[in-house]
Amino acid sequence: MERQVIRVKIEFESVPAVLGFARVAAASLASGLNVGIDRLDDIKLAVSEAVSNCIVHAYPDAPGPVVMEMRLGDSQFEVAVEDHGVGIENLDAARAPGSTTDPLRMGMGFTLMEALSDELEVASHVGAGTRVTLRFSARK
Ligand SMILES: Nc1ncnc2c1ncn2[C@@H]1O[C@H](COP(=O)(O)OP(=O)(O)O)[C@@H](O)[C@H]1O
Ligand SMILES: [Mg+2]
Repeated sequence: MERQVIRVKIEFESVPAVLGFARVAAASLASGLNVGIDRLDDIKLAVSEAVSNCIVHAYPDAPGPVVMEMRLGDSQFEVAVEDHGVGIENLDAARAPGSTTDPLRMGMGFTLMEALSDELEVASHVGAGTRVTLRFSARK
């Protein structure tokens, strides 16, 4: 029998303290997918990188809103993390391994998200914000 799709939308402020909640919220919904613990850890880590970027980069002056939209289907878990912050000027450069605008960071966030997910989509506009969509498939 086909299971119903579950959609969850959460909004929070871009403060470090929310990171743990965002990770667990994603893993909690994703646990309805037919995957093992290791894959749930991948999901947590990828979501953590996406949300960290909102916390660290999106709002340089004061915390701002982050919206996490999740969708659990029969064969796929999707999570989109969106901010309305500064945006990314050069997306190709930002996505390259080791590329960072903060010398204290590793610049591996997008590389990790790409490696951990089955699909990564990034849309960003300077002055408008950034939306990162991660998709994870169930075991075949
Ligand atoms: N949500 C975001 N808002 C603004 N800039 C971002 C966002 N996410 C990523 N970036 C930019 O993309 C760069 C690369 O991101 P990432 O691969 O996660 O590396 P890191 O966070 O270590 O710098 C960041 O240094 C930053 O300039
Ligand atoms: Mg990062």
